[in-house]
Amino acid sequence: MKQFDYLVLGSGIAGLTFALKVAPYGQVAIVTKKGRAESNTNYAQGGIASVTSKEDSFELHVRDTLTAGAGLCKENVVRTIVEEGPARIEELIQLGMRFTEREIPSEPGGRELDLGREGGHSKRRILHAKDVTGREIETALLTAVAAQPNIRIFEDHVAIDLITSQKLGYVGENRCLGAYVLDKKRSRVETFAAPVTLLATGGCGKVYLYTTNPDIATGDGVAMAYRAGAAVANMEFVQFHPTCLYHPRAKSFLISEAVRGEGGVLKTLDGREFMDAVHPLKSLAPRDIVARAIDSQMKKTGSPHVLLDITHKPARFIIDHFPNIYQTCLKYGIDITKEPIPVVPAAHYQCGGVVTNVDGETEIPGLYAVGETACTGLHGANRLASNSLLEALVCAHRAAGRVTSQSLPRADYAIPHWQSGSATDADELVVVAHNWEEIRRLMWDYVGIVRTNKRLQRALSRLLNLQQEIHEYYWNFTVTSDLLELRNIATVAELIVRCALLRPESRGLNYNLDFPQLNPDWAQRDSLLRMIP
Ligand code: FAD
Ligand code: SIN
Repeated sequence: MKQFDYLVLGSGIAGLTFALKVAPYGQVAIVTKKGRAESNTNYAQGGIASVTSKEDSFELHVRDTLTAGAGLCKENVVRTIVEEGPARIEELIQLGMRFTEREIPSEPGGRELDLGREGGHSKRRILHAKDVTGREIETALLTAVAAQPNIRIFEDHVAIDLITSQKLGYVGENRCLGAYVLDKKRSRVETFAAPVTLLATGGCGKVYLYTTNPDIATGDGVAMAYRAGAAVANMEFVQFHPTCLYHPRAKSFLISEAVRGEGGVLKTLDGREFMDAVHPLKSLAPRDIVARAIDSQMKKTGSPHVLLDITHKPARFIIDHFPNIYQTCLKYGIDITKEPIPVVPAAHYQCGGVVTNVDGETEIPGLYAVGETACTGLHGANRLASNSLLEALVCAHRAAGRVTSQSLPRADYAIPHWQSGSATDADELVVVAHNWEEIRRLMWDYVGIVRTNKRLQRALSRLLNLQQEIHEYYWNFTVTSDLLELRNIATVAELIVRCALLRPESRGLNYNLDFPQLNPDWAQRDSLLRMIP
């Protein structure tokens, strides 16, 4: 058994920030399922939203966040995160993060942060590092972690399930005691015990056939917390990013909203600017509106994608602002300085998740959740662009403050080793591959941008059948990371469908043709689910 003071599951911005802050107080294990940098964080493009300019104010950032959230944000949480943002950004800069700067026109030789603009923001307030902000943040945080003797990183280790006192049969409070973890290279399950466990496992884009997310995003944290008895909320609010590159060889490459922020315009294949008739902010309208408008255009015209055109800007400007997007598109034969970019919406961000307060506390003592896996109330029914990196930074700091301000609870529990029982190696791996594909396709077809109750019911009944098959497979065969992820995407898919069925209205990202209006009874209500023991 491996014993630590703090167990951190995940090495994106949330996990790394928390680990750095608790390291002076005890021994930290970071468990991460692939290489240490592989995370949604690493692919973030647009940047971090925070108030740093004299033309901006906390009030405006709060208002924009609340507007995007369509009435469902928790205003006190929004205020805390917005107001604490600048201090956390400053810390990141002290750690070595370099945000892009520009010359101050009125001050020769003077420089200031170059602030980008994205959908739903009334001001320029996005701090960025060209179009590779996430990669730069991940590098800065990992460099700082490498200098910390108290932190050990376990790569290629997949957390399977949380260990809780209730699951072990203890009566009284249900405390989290650590996690069982698959060491992929050794094909061995290890026990990680810790009085404090942080879920920082990110989102669940891979539940859908088309996504901007990398392969790690299989909703493991939400699935594990749900199985452990924690409340999960608002999973119906899956954000579809309007502009993912459409190309047969591009697996999941995002075309940042910042491209529209700098003047990029959405057009039909015959060159019509279709957003003009949809929203006063046109191509920069909030994401849910843009994604639905694209979906509707594609359905109306039968075209497999729409176009994003920034060719009216000088080539030098485009290449300087978006070097990664320019180079990647060029690799696929698209010169974005000369021709429009084919784009489609794709699953991007999980607004719901494990219910926490703004300090990352879940309902289970000893278990914290921060970042995309958590549902703090910041995003409500629709996340404002570039608010997620901000949320992860602020909440990781607050969670670290919370756990280090109290003495670590003593854990007097006997934790048994993982029992493989009579499990054998899986005989038919095709079952795992088939079920993966089926879930992702049915979620795309039945639980996508526009929903109906009939499609949701159809999805649910199919998912319940698949769950049964996966359950049998899970108990009869030795665990592999593919099987663990399949089990988790099946659980998360079910949670998304159940939450969508709970909500009899269209609000933010949950658009249901059977309930096309807002329902005032649901204005302040989260869709809450807990596993029935
Ligand atoms: P992640 O960064 O996803 O990290 C999760 C970690 O958990 C990974 O290390 C993963 O390997 C690990 N993990 C998962 N499951 C397990 C398991 N079972 N066992 C062990 N380890 C596990 N947001 C913004 O604010 N601004 C942007 O510009 C922006 N751009 C984006 C662009 C793209 C292409 C994508 C995909 C997202 C973007 N987002 C952006 C969203 C933002 O990047 C994420 O919400 C944020 O990075 C999540 O951070 P996190 O630390 O919670 O999770
Ligand atoms: C983007 O760059 O468009 C992504 C921003 C975000 O998801 O917040």
